[in-house]
Amino acid sequence: MCGIVGIIGKTAVSRQIVESLRRLEYRGYDSAGIATLEGGVILRRRAPGKLNNLDAVLSERPLSGHVGIGHTRWATHGRPNEVNAHPHATTRVAVVHNGIIENFRELREEAAAKGARMESETDTEVVAHLVTQALEEGKSPKEAVAATLKRLRGAFALAFLFSGENDLLIGARRGPPLAVGYGEGEMFLGSDAIALAPLTNRISYLEEGDWVILTHAGAVFFDENDQPVQRAITLSQISGNLIDKGNYRHFMAKEIHEQPEVVSHTLSHYLDLTTGTIAPASLEAVDFKKLSRLAISACGTAFYAGLVGRYWFERYARLPVDIDIASEFRYREAPLDPGGLALMISQSGETADTLATLRYCRSAGLKIGAIVNVPSSTMARESDVIFKTHAGTEIGVASTKAFTCQLAALAALSLAAGKARGVIDPAEEHDLVKALMEVPRLMAETLKIEPQIERLAKSLAKASDVLYLGRGTSFPIALEGALKLKEISYIHAEGYAAGELKHGPIALIDETMPVVVVAPYDHLFEKTVSNMQEVAARGGRVILITDAQGAKEAGDVYASIIVPTAHSFISPLIYAIPIQLMAYHTAVVMGTDVDQPRSLAKSVTVE
Ligand code: F6R
Repeated sequence: MCGIVGIIGKTAVSRQIVESLRRLEYRGYDSAGIATLEGGVILRRRAPGKLNNLDAVLSERPLSGHVGIGHTRWATHGRPNEVNAHPHATTRVAVVHNGIIENFRELREEAAAKGARMESETDTEVVAHLVTQALEEGKSPKEAVAATLKRLRGAFALAFLFSGENDLLIGARRGPPLAVGYGEGEMFLGSDAIALAPLTNRISYLEEGDWVILTHAGAVFFDENDQPVQRAITLSQISGNLIDKGNYRHFMAKEIHEQPEVVSHTLSHYLDLTTGTIAPASLEAVDFKKLSRLAISACGTAFYAGLVGRYWFERYARLPVDIDIASEFRYREAPLDPGGLALMISQSGETADTLATLRYCRSAGLKIGAIVNVPSSTMARESDVIFKTHAGTEIGVASTKAFTCQLAALAALSLAAGKARGVIDPAEEHDLVKALMEVPRLMAETLKIEPQIERLAKSLAKASDVLYLGRGTSFPIALEGALKLKEISYIHAEGYAAGELKHGPIALIDETMPVVVVAPYDHLFEKTVSNMQEVAARGGRVILITDAQGAKEAGDVYASIIVPTAHSFISPLIYAIPIQLMAYHTAVVMGTDVDQPRSLAKSVTVE
């Protein structure tokens, strides 16, 4: 998703803006640009592709202004070329934008009728023209922005720079997040605290509908009705050294290896590790006993975590779960249970579809719980109960450690629900909590299979299609395996419930088709082995991920990846690791941009 930075500085700001944009690279982008004021005149530099291209342009034609805005663009309207790159500008104002202006077509026609000449295909450029027309009518920058914001429909964050105004930036938020940073005689705007971390740790967040005027003297906030409001300053914990890959080649590799630690950290917030029981706070967060249904909603990888959660809540708490992809939830018009609980799952806490579902459920009278990784996110702020995952900042676009931390939180909550509802007794509670407490150690052990997966990846990289199969809680892991592989290696992959194989996908199987089977040795193993045999009989190359007993029982396969034996409750947490490593090493062999795969964004703030 696009990233926004704005600085009112004491010296030239272009370098600092580019460095802050670099910290937003994790969001995904395909062009970048910057505008500063030189002698009161707006000057821009823009370039398609990565920030290095913008750097090269800036080296040739430097900018020396002390106030400026910058942007990384993830293309929605129009190709990622220089003309469509932000900032968009007239002689009076420059603007950068994250999100979508839904009514841009009618606004463009209207602005064009009044003489505006559009250069780009974007939905953003018209905003610069609307502000300019308001300025030409004699409005001040503040009045012009306030009037323009009222004309815009959609979800957006905006930052404005005005010609002749060396001590002014204006920011606005309706949807995607925007943060204000306070320096010593300097002020900052950024899409998040990560962008601003080396500059300041004193941050205020714009609330939904807010806009803000920045000058050297500070920030003045207004709400959606243009009334002045106060927004608290918080101290961000994010470190300035965040964009450090340590000894790893990619953030994704680093994040895969962090899982034992961050999962342990997450579990420690939901379990009492001393007594081996569920922590009282997990039990008190929600009155699970009163619930008759739970509605889970999320996107992508977070949705697959929710799918695993459904098995757990239904099995260990006998709590019926409705689960939907967030972009479909609202349109299904499902009868909802006022007083019930809707549970959103999101790493970023900003995903537009999940956020829209949250608001939809709230308007239907449901209580809102959110499993989120970013505690300052919009979802966290709009929820009644926050269940934090403690994954730390996830930079790789493909989610890994956030996924397993979501699983950890869901596992613990399903046990809390089971205990509250009287489904699991103290002995089972102990048994299951003990199993969860073993996860970090077993994950660390599982990571030792990396060299084997690295070798296997060389043959996987030659495939053009890969099938993933699993049953029970291994089914969502198969779905996640296929998603991981396709998003970073660009190899076509599909995940299926193993039992569905013969209802269609079996027709695809021949000797060129690797089939990854996720099958711990559990009560479903035998059935999955039958499906594996159906694959082998058609020449398919089975790559079996299982434990020692499973490998013994399975017979001949093309390759087996043997992970430590674990309680069947926790197997999704363990089996997530080999499928992540498989995708990662295949992508490395293919030479793709692992941390920022093409067309993908870390935080999807448009529907
Ligand atoms: C895949 C991936 C995405 C996200 C999805 C939801 O690796 O990262 O599928 O899981 O876009 O994002 P969050 O969790 O931020 O709501």
